[in-house]
Amino acid sequence: MRIRNVALFAALSVLVVTGCGKKQDKGAKASKNAVSAADSAAAASKMPYSLKEGKRLYNHYCGVCHGETGDGAGQYYGLTPSPANFTDKAFMKTLPDEVLFKAINEGSASVGKSNMCPPWGNSFNPEEIEFIVTYIKTFTGS
Ligand code: HEC
Repeated sequence: MRIRNVALFAALSVLVVTGCGKKQDKGAKASKNAVSAADSAAAASKMPYSLKEGKRLYNHYCGVCHGETGDGAGQYYGLTPSPANFTDKAFMKTLPDEVLFKAINEGSASVGKSNMCPPWGNSFNPEEIEFIVTYIKTFTGS
């Protein structure tokens, strides 16, 4: 009987110790998340409306293929050809604003590429496409 109690006590203290450890980890993670959420909220509030709106539309409609960081590695990375990489400075230099606008508005086939990027002209008005163009150009960091 006594031995059993000791064993039970030992088992319980292991549970309590590991339980507490987990809780602390969670707490630390949550506060880290809170800080980065606050950071990005602060960054977002300083963004001009055109960029904020461009980012919102891009993340919603384009990120799945082009990646949220614009590197072309979204969820559908396996497409052939792969989605354009907007962080590639040399590539982006070959695409003036009018070409970006046309490619988005009428689809990649309209600028002599494959038809893998659909035309978005029915989903967005020209102003929204301009916002997206402005946002896409921030991915090269210049
Ligand atoms: C279904 C996946 C998919 C989605 C969603 C998508 N794209 Fe694309 N996009 C592609 C692929 C694939 C290419 C590469 C086409 C090629 O090179 O032939 C591409 C190419 C492009 C290009 C480069 C065209 C050029 O001249 O090389 C631009 C600009 C572009 N996409 C913008 C967008 C924008 C803006 C959105 C959101 C509104 C978007 N794409 C959504 C797959 C996608």
